[in-house]
Amino acid sequence: MRVAIGNDHAATELKMEIMEYVKSLGHEVINFGTDGHESCNYPEFGEKVGRAVVDGQADCGILICGTGVGISLAANKVKGVRCGVCSDTTTAHLIKEHNNANVIAFGARIVGSELAKDIVKTYLEAEFMGGRHQTRVDMIHEIEEKG
Ligand code: RB5
Repeated sequence: MRVAIGNDHAATELKMEIMEYVKSLGHEVINFGTDGHESCNYPEFGEKVGRAVVDGQADCGILICGTGVGISLAANKVKGVRCGVCSDTTTAHLIKEHNNANVIAFGARIVGSELAKDIVKTYLEAEFMGGRHQTRVDMIHEIEEKG
């Protein structure tokens, strides 16, 4: 898969680790985040990853900021993005199986690197279940269309 990744200054180290990990799983990584430690603005990176996924440049996205919250809020403003914060592996598979999330987010100040890797692997291996869950995802899109 082509995985878009984005982060702010709070998550540069973890992003580097996750990039290597995703590659080790056999995926391609497209890095949209900062590689520096200077203070920057997470919405920029949430938007870039969201657009890459919606435009088809990437199959899915991973976003990391301090908590995962700000960057996920920004990504969700891009039409077609379904992003949620995952701080555990149960959410990491259900967010794909039930919500068909095309982007996940987590916080470098919240989860340790081993848990972050487990979250990423779990999400990347999960599959959308469709059926009644498709109906609900369609309802989310209807809300989006209403603006
Ligand atoms: C940056 O200090 C921090 O606010 C950001 O990384 C993130 O946690 C926002 O939700």
